[in-house]
This record gives sequence, C-alpha cells and structure tokens, in this order.
Amino acid sequence: MKIRLSNKNEQAEIEKIHELAFEKTEGPEKAQGIAKLVHDLFEDETAMPIHSIVAVENKKLVGHILFTKVTITNCPVEIEAQILAPLAVLPDYQSTGVGGRLIKEGLRQLKKTGVDLVFVLGHIDYYPRSGFINDAKSLGFEAPYFIPEEFSNAWMVMELSTGVLGQAQGKVKCSDVLNQPEHWRE
Ligand SMILES: CC(C)(COP(=O)(O)OP(=O)(O)OC[C@H]1O[C@@H](n2cnc3c(N)ncnc32)[C@H](O)[C@@H]1OP(=O)(O)O)[C@@H](O)C(=O)NCCC(=O)NCCS
Repeated sequence: MKIRLSNKNEQAEIEKIHELAFEKTEGPEKAQGIAKLVHDLFEDETAMPIHSIVAVENKKLVGHILFTKVTITNCPVEIEAQILAPLAVLPDYQSTGVGGRLIKEGLRQLKKTGVDLVFVLGHIDYYPRSGFINDAKSLGFEAPYFIPEEFSNAWMVMELSTGVLGQAQGKVKCSDVLNQPEHWRE
C-alpha cells in the first residue's frame, strides 16, 4: 500500500471514499454531506494550504485524510495551525492500519511545512493512538462552536513544534466552509 499526496484529478474518487465510509456509521444522508464537505474544502481559498493524502492499493484509492488551515484568534504567539477533517477508509480496508498510516504521513507532511499545532474533533479513543491529546479546551484552545462538557474529550490537539503548547492559546477559527455550525454538531 502506498501513502501519498493526492492529485487534482482524484477528487471525485476521494469524495466517494468518504461517502462509502461514513454511510456505514452515519447513514447515507450525512455521508453525502461529508462527501460534499470534502468537495467544498478543495475549493475553499480560506482553507489553503491544504494537505490531502491518499492510501492506494493496486491503483485503487482506499483511504483519504484532509488537513486545512485554521487561525487562532487572540493568540499571544504567532503560529501555524491546521485541522484534521475528515478521515475515511473504505469499509473493506478498515482495521488494517490504513487510518493510522494516513495520520502519520499527514503529520509528517505538516511538520515539514512548518505547522506547529494540529486540531481534530473526533473519536476520543482513536486519535490519542496517534498522539492527539484529549480536551484541547483545557489546554487553552476554544473550539469554533460550543462543545458540551460530556464531549469535551473529542476536541483534541497535538503539537508538532515542541513548546508551543503552553504558549499558544485562543479561539480556533476554521476555513469558511468548515466554520459552519452544522459541522460542529453531533
Ligand atoms: C475511523 C477510521 C478512519 C479508522 O480507520 P482504520 O484504517 O480502520 O484505522 P486503523 O486500522 O488505523 O485502526 C484500527 C483501530 O482503530 C479502532 N477504531 C476504529 N474506529 C474507532 C472509533 N470510532 N473509536 C475508537 N476506536 C476506533 C479499531 O477498533 C481498531 O482497533 P484495533 O487496532 O485494536 O483492532 C475508519 O474506521 C473509518 O473510515 N470510519 C468511518 C469514517 C469515520 O468515522 N471517520 C473518522 C471521523 S472522526
């Protein structure tokens, strides 16, 4: 299996991965919404620079991860930050390490381009395996929209530049497309 940056002509196939992966857990309507989110993020100028990475098996795309730019309002230090959203692996290829490899390669690419912090809103037991820290709010990072106390562990952060946690803080603002309230509700 190869993990690499995606090409522009692969966008439709990438959207289909999200539709098929999320259909299983979220139902068809929400899955189509997530596929559209990916489509729109590819066009969103305020999301740039994006990092779009695919897993390829025998020329077929089987997984995809997307990172887009975020800014931190009133942050006392100047930093570069991104958010991981979304991540999907085709059902037949799940639980074989593809998701973990996509995250790892994504973080490597981000670090290479000087990104200091990465956020994710997601499964509380899954992302800490890759080094994300539960409850970014307690570390000083408010999410774009209110997250109820019982889900606070789902809002996570990871530092790619040592020492940034503890210095940076503030309210996270995503790209125009991702900064819509429907993407922040369960
Ligand atoms: C979540 C997802 C990306 C994981 O990809 P994957 O390639 O199956 O993940 P990996 O093979 O790296 O890791 C598999 C492990 O993660 C665990 N895992 C998968 N989804 C999980 C979840 N929602 N919560 C906790 N653990 C989870 C599996 O049980 C498995 O555990 P094991 O290694 O002990 O058997 C994939 O299941 C998927 O596409 N799901 C539908 C879309 C989705 O939910 N995306 C994430 C949105 S936050």
